Order: sequence, then C-alpha cells, then structure tokens
Amino acid sequence: MEKYIASATRYDGTTQYKRCGESGILLPKVSLGFWHNFGNLTPYERSREIALCAFDHGITHFDLANNYGPEPGEAESRLGKILKDDLAPYRDELFICTKAAYDMWDGPYGSWASRKHLTASLDQSLRRLGLDYVDLFYCHRYDPNTPLDETLQTLVDIVHSGKALYVGISRWPLEALRYGMRYLKEHGVPMLIYQGRFHLLDRAPHEEGILDELQSEGKGFISFSPLSQGLLTDRYLNGIPEGSRMTEGRFLKQNVLTQELLDKLRALNNLAQQRGESLAQMSLAWILNHKVVTSVLVGASSTQQLETNLKCMQSAPFSDDELDIIERILK
Ligand SMILES: NC(=O)c1ccc[n+]([C@@H]2O[C@H](COP(=O)([O-])OP(=O)(O)OC[C@H]3O[C@@H](n4cnc5c(N)ncnc54)[C@H](OP(=O)(O)O)[C@@H]3O)[C@@H](O)[C@H]2O)c1
Repeated sequence: MEKYIASATRYDGTTQYKRCGESGILLPKVSLGFWHNFGNLTPYERSREIALCAFDHGITHFDLANNYGPEPGEAESRLGKILKDDLAPYRDELFICTKAAYDMWDGPYGSWASRKHLTASLDQSLRRLGLDYVDLFYCHRYDPNTPLDETLQTLVDIVHSGKALYVGISRWPLEALRYGMRYLKEHGVPMLIYQGRFHLLDRAPHEEGILDELQSEGKGFISFSPLSQGLLTDRYLNGIPEGSRMTEGRFLKQNVLTQELLDKLRALNNLAQQRGESLAQMSLAWILNHKVVTSVLVGASSTQQLETNLKCMQSAPFSDDELDIIERILK
C-alpha cells in the first residue's frame, strides 16, 4: 500500500483540473464516486486501494451520499476509516462531498428534502466520515412536496453553520433549478455545481436545457455514471463477465443489453480503437469535450479501471468527422 500514499506522483500531470463554473474551486476532470465498491459487498482493502490510488493520481474530489452502501451509510463509514488510517494528513487537499434526500432511515424524516431530513442527515454523515465539515453538500433529488424555499434556506443555513463550504443540486428539473440558483444567489450562498446524468447514451441535461442554463449562469456541471455503469467500456462487448455490475443486477439489468445496443457499442469501440484509445477513454473524453462540464464522476471496481479512465484527460481532440460518426452510430 506504500505504493500509493504520497508517492510523489500526485499532481504529476496525470490529472488536470478545471475551474468549476465561475467559482474559486478547481476540480479534477475525473472525480471518484463512492456509490459502488465502497459497501460491504467489497473487501475493505479493495475500497481503500481504489481511494488511495485515486488520490495518488491527483483525484482530489470524492463524491458520496448518505445512502451509498450497502448498507446505507457504509461508504461514508469506509471513507471515514480511510481518512483516519491514511488520508487525514491530506484533508485540505481533498474536496469531499455528500448528499441527502433519498431514502435513508425509517419514518417521515428519513427521506426527501425537508429541513429536518437534510439537517439530521448531514449530521449523521459527518459522524460517519469523522469530519467537522464537508466541502460540498447536495440536495440529491427534487422533492415535489416540500416548498422549495424550505429546502433552499436549509442549504443556506448549512453553509452558515460551517458544516458545508458549498452547496450543489442534483437531478432537479430546469424550472426548479432556475429558481434554486436565483434563491441561493440572493441569499449569499451561490450554488457551486449541478450533478446530472450525461453521457453518450443519455443527453437529457442537454435536451432539457440544463447545460445551457448552467453555462449562462457560470455554474459547474459534473456528470454521474458517465460510462453508463460500465456499458460504455469494453466490459460487456463479449458477454457478461462474472463479478460485473450486471451480474450483481441491482442497478444495471441484463435486459438493457439488447443486440441493437451491443451493435452500437461495438461500432463505438471500433472508432475508439481507430483513435488509439479504449471505449471508456473515448466516452469520457466526449463528455469533457463539452465546455460546461467540469468533471466526469466515474466509478471503478479496480485500480486498473481507474487508471484506464484517467487516460481520457490525454485524449486527442475530436474531429468534426469523428463527432458525426458518433452521432450516426447512436441515432
Ligand atoms: N446524483 C445521483 O443521483 C447519482 C446517481 C448515480 C451515481 N452518482 C455518482 O456517480 C458515481 C459514478 O457512478 P457509476 O459507478 O455508475 O459510474 P460509471 O463510471 O458509469 O460506472 C462505473 C462502473 O463501470 C465499470 N467500469 C468503469 N471503468 C471501467 C473500465 N475502464 N473498463 C471496464 N469497466 C469499467 C465498473 O463496473 P464493474 O463493477 O462491472 O467492474 C464500474 O464499477 C457514483 O459513484 C456516484 O458518486 C450519482
């Protein structure tokens, strides 16, 4: 494990940083997500190795949520242990985020975006992480039943309490996002970043006008599941490997892998090979090719996957021809 910590490869140019909108924050173009591979289905040592490998390559941004596990809370507890055992001296080199609003505990306050849920959940997260504050706290989803002002004022108050330095919004529809950005700005706690699903197979934030809105407001965007949970890699091109997320089957179902999709993925893979890169690398580079995108938020079940994915920052720019070919493949 000495291989990883403070081995002086950090900030060696492997990882590039990008300003998050018009804020003061630089984020790595590739960030590490803790949704999978940090729960109790994964040996602790593997989780630790992935986190340390990421940090050692200059990935300073770790993305968590209250409910990442399994069991819910386990990913935060694991990062808490990794911090205690290894990364505590580097706390100020890390940008750690968590979220609340999905189901977390029983009863009427264990979910959604009320003041009660967001405040109590963040307190629980800080205890699991062993931290006094997180760098970024998100409202994880839009709650149609809680007044937006209640949710937004809670985010403002959380920053004023010192428990988070910045706030973000994830998965809100455009109109609510517009309102939220205005409210937060007027209350002196501008939204830092929006988190949404945007990749070669899913362009919703673009189609819904969210990317344009963020661009014009000078906000950052971070793309979650940028490899479509592994579909946009070589993982499933020749069958469904044992131990893959699809065999686990909780979040990535086998029935999504139709012959039509497989043909498209193989065609994309051919193009990636012509460009001299892996499908994962090309898929991530395509997202980063959008000006408004600050970072791609990858998951990895091994350090090898992570290291492959980091290469997207060295990808050649796309020619117009290549971009056209991609659109033709995916139409
Ligand atoms: N805001 C939200 O609501 C929301 C929702 C979802 C996710 N997120 C965030 O986004 C993060 C990333 O999501 P994700 O894990 O779905 O991301 P992803 O990068 O699309 O998928 C990661 C999975 O793809 C496979 N993979 C990755 N790199 C590979 C490579 N080079 N070659 C072959 N296979 C590769 C691995 O699957 P195997 O396990 O099969 O090896 C890995 O676990 C999460 O951890 C979380 O922080 C946020």
